[in-house]
Amino acid sequence: MSSPSYEPRSDVDLSVPSAARAYDYFLDGAHNFAVDRAFADQVLDIAPSVPAVAKLNRSFLRRVVKFCLDQGIRQFLDLGSGIPTVGNVHEIAQQVDPASRVVYVDYEPVAYAHARQLLSGNPFATIVQADIRDPGTILDHPETRRLIDFSEPVALLMVGVLLFISDEDRPGELVGRYRELLAPGSFLAISHIASEEAGPELQAEVARLVGAYAAADEHVYVRTREEILGWFDERTSLVEPGLVCLPDWRPDNPSEASSPARLLGYGGVARVD
Ligand SMILES: C[S@@+](CC[C@H](N)C(=O)[O-])C[C@H]1O[C@@H](n2cnc3c(N)ncnc32)[C@H](O)[C@@H]1O
Repeated sequence: MSSPSYEPRSDVDLSVPSAARAYDYFLDGAHNFAVDRAFADQVLDIAPSVPAVAKLNRSFLRRVVKFCLDQGIRQFLDLGSGIPTVGNVHEIAQQVDPASRVVYVDYEPVAYAHARQLLSGNPFATIVQADIRDPGTILDHPETRRLIDFSEPVALLMVGVLLFISDEDRPGELVGRYRELLAPGSFLAISHIASEEAGPELQAEVARLVGAYAAADEHVYVRTREEILGWFDERTSLVEPGLVCLPDWRPDNPSEASSPARLLGYGGVARVD
């Protein structure tokens, strides 16, 4: 069976808001345009918790990278990396070991362009513009091959990205296709939006958020903890504390524990056996 082909978008269309650039705006980043801010402001009106969730997610990513570095990992494949803003994976990793290697992947032209600019002159970090639904292109890409040695442990980061993958595109199988290439001792990190533990007001916010993204032709899928848990297969072991609300994963900032947005996302990391 042949895989569908997913051509990365090559155009920067400033008349259409982008999820990546709106996310950058929610993180107080500078890589967004008027069309993105207008869209983000509409989202804020109907779902004011979104920037808090974005920040909790980014903070989870930072702790995951530090955890992986502590476990001796020096290779990172970051799928759906977004626009490089402060506290990026390569900054954290290369602070600990300047020879840490990082391959970012995003299909968004502005994320790609900014990352290229930011990473020029960095021999150990790069970005590949590709759709994560096309693992072959990413894994065979010369830049991935240049920096990642799949015979050694790798941290595979799927943080805040699988919410953009529809059920038809089978996110669990997709995770599996990357997972099967990872050497024992690798780590797989996933975070995802959720709302099942939240009260009715927050659930309504999430439903309105999904509607707003759909209207902008950027579909967001909310999943249950059980569904996300199913993407970690039997050949991986979740590290403590398992798949939990984002600020509960190896917390290092007590103020996040009381964030009202804490119930709107799960994160977990598994070791590849
Ligand atoms: C919410 S941001 C997450 C950024 C970063 N991983 C983090 O957690 O802070 C999601 C990113 O995934 C990218 N993305 C969504 N679907 C994608 C796909 N199918 N292939 C590649 N990138 C994708 C978007 O362009 C966006 O930059």
